[in-house]
Amino acid sequence: MLSLPARCLLRPPRQPLPAPPRRGSSGLGRRWLLSTPIFYVNGPPHIGHLYSALLADALHRHRGLLGPGPGRLATGTDEHGLKIQQAAAAAGTAPSELCAHVSGLFRDLFSRAAVSFTDFIRTTEPRHRRAVQCFWAALQGRGLLYKDFYEGWYCTPDECFLTQAQITERPDAQGRPCKVSLDSGHQVHWTKEENYMFKLSEFQEPLRKWLQGNRHVISPEPFYQVVLRWLEEDLPDLSVSRERNRLQWGIPVPGDSTQTIYVWVDALVNYLTVAGYPDAHHTWWPAAHHVVGKDILKFHAIYWPALLMAVGLDPPEQIYVHSHWTVRGQKMSKSLGNVVDPVACFKQYTVDGFRYFLLRQGVPERDCDYYEEKVIKLVNSELADALGGLLNRCTAPSINPSGIYPHFSESCFRKGSDHMDVEASGRALAEDYELIASVDRLPLQVTDYFEHFQIYKALESVVTCVRQTNGFFQRHAPWKLCRDNPAEKCWLDTVLHVTLECLRIYGILLQPVIPATAEKLLSRLSIKPEERAFTGLTFLPRYHGKPCPFEGRKLGPDMGALFPRLETPRSWLVTDGEEGRWVGAHAV
Ligand code: MSP
Repeated sequence: MLSLPARCLLRPPRQPLPAPPRRGSSGLGRRWLLSTPIFYVNGPPHIGHLYSALLADALHRHRGLLGPGPGRLATGTDEHGLKIQQAAAAAGTAPSELCAHVSGLFRDLFSRAAVSFTDFIRTTEPRHRRAVQCFWAALQGRGLLYKDFYEGWYCTPDECFLTQAQITERPDAQGRPCKVSLDSGHQVHWTKEENYMFKLSEFQEPLRKWLQGNRHVISPEPFYQVVLRWLEEDLPDLSVSRERNRLQWGIPVPGDSTQTIYVWVDALVNYLTVAGYPDAHHTWWPAAHHVVGKDILKFHAIYWPALLMAVGLDPPEQIYVHSHWTVRGQKMSKSLGNVVDPVACFKQYTVDGFRYFLLRQGVPERDCDYYEEKVIKLVNSELADALGGLLNRCTAPSINPSGIYPHFSESCFRKGSDHMDVEASGRALAEDYELIASVDRLPLQVTDYFEHFQIYKALESVVTCVRQTNGFFQRHAPWKLCRDNPAEKCWLDTVLHVTLECLRIYGILLQPVIPATAEKLLSRLSIKPEERAFTGLTFLPRYHGKPCPFEGRKLGPDMGALFPRLETPRSWLVTDGEEGRWVGAHAV
């Protein structure tokens, strides 16, 4: 028997609902507890799950590079509920075995994907059971639960109750009419049983006030508007338990062995469990920042904040919402057989290649489409050619035989307003000054995009600068400059110095997204681990009249291509008929 802290079981006098909390500042320099959703274990992970985790990982890594606030990243698996109970029965295995196996798959995937989680929670762990039972006792203690006969539609694949307006009728595989959820298309069943109900309706006004006082709490903004609209509709009380004879695979209601706690209440409390609830959560709560898919927005933006307010805790500081991945224009589904295995993607595109693709192409506001040719084209063009090619060109022994971070010469590249005067500006051209201005702005721009959950835009702005730098290198063709001529050597070294400085900035800024490639790049440039933070990041200090600690430093060893070009599998190449000659890949 699990023991609950006495304060969970006491029935305190009913307290007024807490005032809607104010949202904190942007989070810079403060504590953060980032989380992914916890994943159902009825099937192996796919690329949509990985995307949720990568978004959270990139945010976590980015915050870590900004310092100094301590941060955590929690992920894990959601193991209870009818869906898991049925999946185990269908597989002829015990639920606990199914959970252990699939949870292991998620954990392995995230480790392999370099997701820097600090906690991996399983809802079948004793620490979580205790947190959920304590949370339940707190709800009950505040008089916010009552028993009633619940009658309505239940969707097991989504583990949620639906109103009449949320369902529709569609023919099933055999053409028979079948009731399904309007939102997910999954089949629903009529349920009638005695449940505990949570007085959600009492929270409609506090939720509205909370949202109105915290306009940025849900981003991107269109999702915030969606939630506000939901709150204009009726907010009925929520059934928060199931009869034990139907659902055994779950946490029993404390003191009532005939009922099991509803899996969504169980799952949401995971965010408190990882914060140390019920004993030690105050250090981390409410510094919670949840990354969630759009399909589970209502649970996170309505039910969860209401449940938290109900037990006297603040809602999370931030809810980041993302859309879904389709595959060649179709929804991913087992029945269509188009579920994409992330481990196979890592083999095909490398871990960083696939991380880059998902985060560069994934736009949280809208669904994104995956197909193989798109990954290969993007990754080759941006990582292998533009970034890797640039590093390769400016570190080639033929161009930089001494293998050092060369010197910058102010007389070749003058600072400031005189650049309009070609004579006075040495050999730099107007476009070169534009490059300097772009890279100067870049760190702030990238941070701003991360803070606004627009990682794809951060990457786009880095790539634009990488291309500008390639233009700079090409324009001045340092391979044509003669080292034996002192004036030309000065300019050659300056061109290399500027290019390496650009690469240093790109390497540092790309760490949250492609950590292994960034590490390789920065090691090649001989940038020490303590020189890789975002704080105090200054581009081209010599141009700004400051000393450059890297100037004259020996470059790191050449470990080969920064990012190997990906091959297009032969099966995707088309032939021109009888001759069977390769004529190119399918159009992308
Ligand atoms: N167990 C619940 C979450 C509980 S959180 C307290 C759940 N699990 S899930 O495994 O179905 O989904 C986990 C996450 O994966 C969700 O954020 C969901 O949006 C995301 N994705 C599932 N399919 C997806 C795509 N096709 N594309 C992108 N993300 C998708 O819901």
